[in-house]
Amino acid sequence: MRFKSIRLENFRNYKEQTLEFDEKLNLFLGSNAQGKTNLLEGLFVMGLGKSFRTNNDKEMIAFGQDIGRASSVVVDEDGSETLIEIAYAREGKLIKVDGIKLDRSVDLLENVYVVVFSPDDLKIIKEGPDNRRRFLDRELCQIKPVYYSDLGNYKKVLKQRNMLLRQNNTDMALFEVFDEALSDYGLRLVDERKRFTAKLEEISSRIHSEISGGSEELKLSYETGVPSGEGDSLAERKEAYKAKLRKNFDSDIFKGYTGFGPHKDDLKIELNGIDIRLFGSQGQQRTAALSMKLAEIGLIKQETGKNAVLLLDDVLSELDRKRQRFLIEAMSDVQVFITSTEIDEELKAMLPSGKSFYISGGNVLT
Ligand SMILES: Nc1ncnc2c1ncn2[C@@H]1O[C@H](COP(=O)(O)OP(=O)(O)OP(=O)(O)O)[C@@H](O)[C@H]1O
Ligand SMILES: [Mg+2]
Repeated sequence: MRFKSIRLENFRNYKEQTLEFDEKLNLFLGSNAQGKTNLLEGLFVMGLGKSFRTNNDKEMIAFGQDIGRASSVVVDEDGSETLIEIAYAREGKLIKVDGIKLDRSVDLLENVYVVVFSPDDLKIIKEGPDNRRRFLDRELCQIKPVYYSDLGNYKKVLKQRNMLLRQNNTDMALFEVFDEALSDYGLRLVDERKRFTAKLEEISSRIHSEISGGSEELKLSYETGVPSGEGDSLAERKEAYKAKLRKNFDSDIFKGYTGFGPHKDDLKIELNGIDIRLFGSQGQQRTAALSMKLAEIGLIKQETGKNAVLLLDDVLSELDRKRQRFLIEAMSDVQVFITSTEIDEELKAMLPSGKSFYISGGNVLT
């Protein structure tokens, strides 16, 4: 899949802008704070309906405006075109696909797959577990619409349960209802994340080994507080989940929140047996992040049969030549959008031919 065009209207610092893209490579160049990342954000929202930079949709509406719009024509592998339109207003958002309003954002998901790689992605490796959970969730939501629904439902139930805990409510019949739902959605999330982690490890370890010249072995494993119950039936696993919730009840009431579940889990990342979340060098962390990001593209292809679009925000010029070369080779099958303040000649020569856009104050020159 690829983007054919985009139109932004009162979106971030863009008043009104329409762009036609190259099938292969699109380069956005410009000084700081001109609108390069804003443009990638406009593309990214076409995949998930929401941003990679903020959970608050309203931030994307241009200052002083009531409605911000982004729309794009995407082209499928078979050449068919789809028009995606998103309007963000103070009251909420409206999404249309080929002119038809979607009742649920989840129906947007299968139109285009977008993978973004930005300097912030280093956080996946070295910062708190919430970053790694967000990474898993974002990828799984794209690939599996049912995961998107399960995650939404889990969060809703968790929020309600935590509210009861904070109110010191001890109505166990009521908790039984919540715990039933929590164990149901919770197990589905954990199982999907485990499956995803195993597949991601397979692809990313191969990539990492190539980039590191075979000297480093990357291992990913899903760490969960949910009783594993390997070999048990689903009913037995749910029972074990609920039993642990009951056992932890007093401490949950004391803390005012639910102490275990997919919202507390983590992704362990090891290189040659060493936990690089804690002990990795900058370079190792960077390479691992790159391997995991590139693996996403392979995984999306494997799971959906489609090519994802790759958005590289300010990362290419940060890598050394060897990693640059690797990244450029790896992206040969997909459409790529690259932002940078400047690109040196040697790097430019390594890139496939494409289109360059110069961005200044929310205006684009081709
Ligand atoms: N909702 C908004 N309305 C209007 N302008 C906005 C909005 N949100 C952000 N901006 C402006 O957009 C600009 C930042 O754009 P962007 O993040 O795309 O910069 P950039 O070109 O990627 O810069 P850098 O090279 O530093 O990453 C800032 O000047 C910011 O004030
Ligand atoms: Mg930027």
